[in-house]
Amino acid sequence: MSIEIPEGLTELLQSFTVEVLRNQPRDLLEFALQYFTQLKENESNGAAIGNEQNSATRSGKAVNFIEEAMQIDSENGEEEEDDDDEEFVAPVINRFIRRASVCAEAFNPDEDEEDKEPRITHPKTDEQRQRLQEACKDILLFKNLDPEQMSQVLDAMFEKTVEPGGHIIDQDDDGDNFYVIERGTFDILLRADGTERTVGSYDNRGSFGELALMYNTPRAATIVATSTGALWCLDRLTFRRIIVKNNAKKRKMYEAFIETLPLLTSLEPSERMKVVDVLSSKVYNAGEQIIAQGDLADCFYIVESGKVRITMKRSRTKKDPEDEEVDIAVCSRGQYFGELALVTNKPRAASAYAVENVKCLVMDVQAFERLLGPCMDIMKRNIANYEEQLVTLFGSNTDIEEQNA
Ligand code: CMP
Ligand code: CMP
Repeated sequence: MSIEIPEGLTELLQSFTVEVLRNQPRDLLEFALQYFTQLKENESNGAAIGNEQNSATRSGKAVNFIEEAMQIDSENGEEEEDDDDEEFVAPVINRFIRRASVCAEAFNPDEDEEDKEPRITHPKTDEQRQRLQEACKDILLFKNLDPEQMSQVLDAMFEKTVEPGGHIIDQDDDGDNFYVIERGTFDILLRADGTERTVGSYDNRGSFGELALMYNTPRAATIVATSTGALWCLDRLTFRRIIVKNNAKKRKMYEAFIETLPLLTSLEPSERMKVVDVLSSKVYNAGEQIIAQGDLADCFYIVESGKVRITMKRSRTKKDPEDEEVDIAVCSRGQYFGELALVTNKPRAASAYAVENVKCLVMDVQAFERLLGPCMDIMKRNIANYEEQLVTLFGSNTDIEEQNA
């Protein structure tokens, strides 16, 4: 006699086991009761997920198995129809897609996962897609994707609104989504030795939540909304299938170059590869401005090829205050620029122009702060040279102070 295993049983038990292992409950039966009751309630509540971070399930180690709303392409590749064309309605939850275990999910870039994993699609109105594209246009992690990969990423992303005080990510949790900010402000909190402190913030742009998904680690920080806001979320599976895979190629491409960078010599090889993961490559045409003196800074640059001219404005005379741009340095392959404003938290001290066609590796400010902490000493030594360089070019320190005032 053959026994038929009901559809969904394996996944149901697997999800339950994962929650047990994560929560380590003392009373297993009580936990099971809570778990399955809540599962049933969620199913009855259907797709009405509001701000999950504000819900009671979010606090501490409470059972938190609500999976983000997602819609999977049916086997023939057709998208399931959304009833409401005007407004985005979170589709039915498929919680069983949840991974079995974080650590078991080793990533092998040579293995083509593409055909094995179902594609995730969240239908969007034209208006939503436009807002999404706008929010994603400067996201460095997306910069190296080809158009097909980018389109799959946009298809898979779904919207989430947040209220002030809402926890988007809690430190030490498992990673579920990568987040792109459409609007709103968010604090970054780090807990160490029992105390939590704010180490940074996001202001209406940027992205977060990539680390846990890239490296299969617990969440490295807590992210809390400090205003109402809107986020676009990319589920873990799609993130790994596309972004992590792309990064594996990027690592191969930049491995040799990154090893030659004096700035990164103090890093372990694995840390150096993490730097590659958060870099994107950008091309500038001859003469194009890369940095404008006085602008606010959000990026750091390493020259991959070509030459970059650094210039500074200087008033000719006190009577004729019209600015003159003076060349102060040239950066070539392997050299970096644009760190000063990030280190000093001031506007850009100089401008940068592509002398010829230039390719730069670009890192955003959060990645810069996280990953270059150990390299800060090298940078600071270099920054100390800037003043000497300016004295040679412009004269005395007093002149420079006037210059930079
Ligand atoms: P992840 O660890 O997945 O979740 C928390 C996110 O906070 C993390 O990814 C980063 O995207 C973001 N983050 C911003 N600043 C920091 C920081 N200083 N340390 C760790 N994570 C940070
Ligand atoms: P930042 O101020 O962020 O943007 C302009 C960059 O020019 C600056 O960082 C440095 O990386 C680079 N630079 C090179 N030489 C100098 C200099 N003498 N003074 C200031 N910035 C310099």
